[in-house]
Amino acid sequence: MNVQQQHYRTIWPDANNRYVNIIDQTRLPFAFVPVRINNVADMVVAIKTMQVRGAPLIGVAAAYGIALAMHQDSSDMALDVAAQQLLRSRPTAVNLAWALTRMQQHLKTLTPAQRIEAAWDEAAKIADEDVQQNQAIGQHGLASLQACYSGKPLQILTHCNAGWLATVDYGTALAPIYAAHDAGLPVHVWVGETRPRNQGASLTAWELAQHGVPHTVITDNAGGHLMQHGQVDMVIVGADRVTRSGDVCNKIGTYLKALAAFDQHIPFYAAVPSPTIDWQIDDALSEIEIEQRGADEVAWVQGLTAQGVVESVRVIPQQSRALNPAFDVTPARLVTGIITEKGVYSPADLIQLRPSI
Ligand code: MRU
Repeated sequence: MNVQQQHYRTIWPDANNRYVNIIDQTRLPFAFVPVRINNVADMVVAIKTMQVRGAPLIGVAAAYGIALAMHQDSSDMALDVAAQQLLRSRPTAVNLAWALTRMQQHLKTLTPAQRIEAAWDEAAKIADEDVQQNQAIGQHGLASLQACYSGKPLQILTHCNAGWLATVDYGTALAPIYAAHDAGLPVHVWVGETRPRNQGASLTAWELAQHGVPHTVITDNAGGHLMQHGQVDMVIVGADRVTRSGDVCNKIGTYLKALAAFDQHIPFYAAVPSPTIDWQIDDALSEIEIEQRGADEVAWVQGLTAQGVVESVRVIPQQSRALNPAFDVTPARLVTGIITEKGVYSPADLIQLRPSI
């Protein structure tokens, strides 16, 4: 992704593999601020506070967190403690657990002295794989977009941010949109604001603008109305965890969009790289831990004042409580297709991707 004509990934180590750079997503869209993460404790904070966020990116961030930890102490115990701390930072996206398991399994085959360099190499490998998977998602998704194209600009609705910022590069749900735009297929994106953290309004809108993709920000509640009035051709979202039967756990509010799309016979796709598929669980509703975030995220909203200062304001009465579940589950029956790096699968066919053990 280019920002002011310069190519960036969302996470990158320094040339000597001593620290990690991230883009502080809590500062967007008003400031583009790369931040240096020096140790595993800082990486845990960056994930928890959502300086880095999005399922694929927090997996890669956790892998780099292990590399940072190995610099301090590369013993078995230090490896396990770092993995536990990182695992607890956010519970819902399976990519985090997936990346940590991969790092632990790989490093445990090595001596503590070998682990330091190997950890950086393995984290870089996971990052590169994410980029390749998302590029492939873009190409497979592009075919679905082309199939929907009828001569008028394609109207695509998305929720949250499953773009470049949520991955190492390209994004998942936005990858086919970027591919279509770059191929000259006219697209327009309806961007749901995604309260309470406004990942749509702040992040998706920002990165689509950087890439020159036509888009319009809408309130979360406007999606169903636009669908009823023929203004949405397809919905594409990302996911934090997809079950083997094709249930999609994603940002809170995804389920309502899927219900409206189903009612209006509008195709609803989830775009996910294979590390987002959890082959271990059967029942998404009872087995996926839905992150409960702080009430302040609902009670307060951040924005830019007319004077150009970023400030937070309270939007609910002092005496009111707020509840903040961060994700919901869209049952497979509402999902038209899962766009993966291997192709587009119906929920029932997703099982074909299951790795043999
Ligand atoms: O709470 P967030 O911003 O980390 O949630 C992100 C999402 O829900 C994304 O849609 C999902 O992680 C897919 S990102 C490619």
